[in-house]
Amino acid sequence: MENREIILEINHLTKVFQDEPDVNAEPILEDLNLQLHRKEFLSILGPSGCGKTTMLRCIAGFESYEGEILVGGVSTTKPGTDRIMVFQDFNQIFPWQTVEKNIQYPLKLQGIKDKDQLKAISDEYLKKVNLDGTQKKYPHQLSGGMKQRVAIAKALAQKPKIILMDEPFAALDAMTRNKLQAELLNISRQEDCTFIFITHNIQEAIVLGDRIIVMSKKGKIKIDKQNTLARPITPASPGYGDMWTLFHDAIEE
Ligand SMILES: Nc1ncnc2c1ncn2[C@@H]1O[C@H](COP(=O)(O)OP(=O)(O)O)[C@@H](O)[C@H]1O
Ligand SMILES: [Mg+2]
Repeated sequence: MENREIILEINHLTKVFQDEPDVNAEPILEDLNLQLHRKEFLSILGPSGCGKTTMLRCIAGFESYEGEILVGGVSTTKPGTDRIMVFQDFNQIFPWQTVEKNIQYPLKLQGIKDKDQLKAISDEYLKKVNLDGTQKKYPHQLSGGMKQRVAIAKALAQKPKIILMDEPFAALDAMTRNKLQAELLNISRQEDCTFIFITHNIQEAIVLGDRIIVMSKKGKIKIDKQNTLARPITPASPGYGDMWTLFHDAIEE
């Protein structure tokens, strides 16, 4: 991974929510530094409230911050189509649009007008997430897992540099979750895209991540580990148990 170009560089990121003007609020993130390589898949673990979502929102351009966030070497402070967020919520796609129109909508905003081209792109990405045949369906006709697949297809179709995923599988049942993990792993290998994936699930972090970070209070990076386990990774993989314990203990502390 070391010889790949750096796609994301976070330098001295500090975030303070100034809720009351006269009170000196504590920072939520303090001097956070992180570099990510192109095509890297980063899993982030950490206790609730340690600032994971806030960090992602800063990268997405949804929050003001102190410090510097560079994407492809360019300083970013506003949302852009080079960074797309995928949430836990099943209702992040428009309920009044069909599956294919949901995927095509941001592409139209980006200036693609040709109907055949739009159709070709939405078909291609629906196939990638195993949803071929659902083009004309509406979100209410889909299961939670299918809606999350649409959200992933919609994100990928925009060809962002970075996909920011905030516990996207947290509300799914265990079997659907395992299936989506395997699919996402497969897709992430094919796309020229960098992934940041927040999860509370240690198994999920290990199965997906090329690299796993454990964050603690104020966005402190407590563990930053390359995942060297042979793929596909299962709980029976040699080394899995040690890694699981390492992360588990670091989160608990
Ligand atoms: N808009 C906000 N205003 C004030 N405090 C916030 C806001 N958003 C998040 N926080 C606080 O920031 C801390 C980190 O939250 P968050 O980034 O959501 O953590 P995590 O995703 O790791 O659970 C929490 O203490 C939370 O209450
Ligand atoms: Mg969160």
